[in-house]
Amino acid sequence: MSNQEIAQAMRGHHAIMAQQLQDLAQKLETAESAWQSAREAVAAYLTNEVLPHAAAEESTVYRVGTNLANLTKLIESMLYEHTVIQSLTERLQGSPTQSQALTLAAQAAKLFEVHAEKENRFIIAVLEPREDVDLEAVLGDMHQLLAY
Ligand SMILES: [Fe+2]
Ligand SMILES: [Fe+2]
Repeated sequence: MSNQEIAQAMRGHHAIMAQQLQDLAQKLETAESAWQSAREAVAAYLTNEVLPHAAAEESTVYRVGTNLANLTKLIESMLYEHTVIQSLTERLQGSPTQSQALTLAAQAAKLFEVHAEKENRFIIAVLEPREDVDLEAVLGDMHQLLAY
């Protein structure tokens, strides 16, 4: 597949994850007595989908990006945001009240949305037109790490 097709697939996957995270976070608002299972659903999605995605891209997309001089600092900031998502996940897991869980879940969902959009606009869009970058191989390595 072409870089363009792979870039499109990557953006599509980001959109799905951002939407699912937002939907799950929103359920916390209306969950009433079931709020703890709603909190666990958000935490599970972060733990099982978002954080493995982040880890896999660190050794694939980000590794390619960091070798391009104009992306080095951006990649550093993206790695920092992964650690913030991780820490929000841990705090969410231990949040004792519905309102705290809702706040943390909403923060994680918004941060992920912005973070993924930064990848779309400032990393994937930079890699996509480059002839020395094979996005299909990069995505293949990511899937291997995620055992798809
Ligand atoms: Fe990321
Ligand atoms: Fe990503």
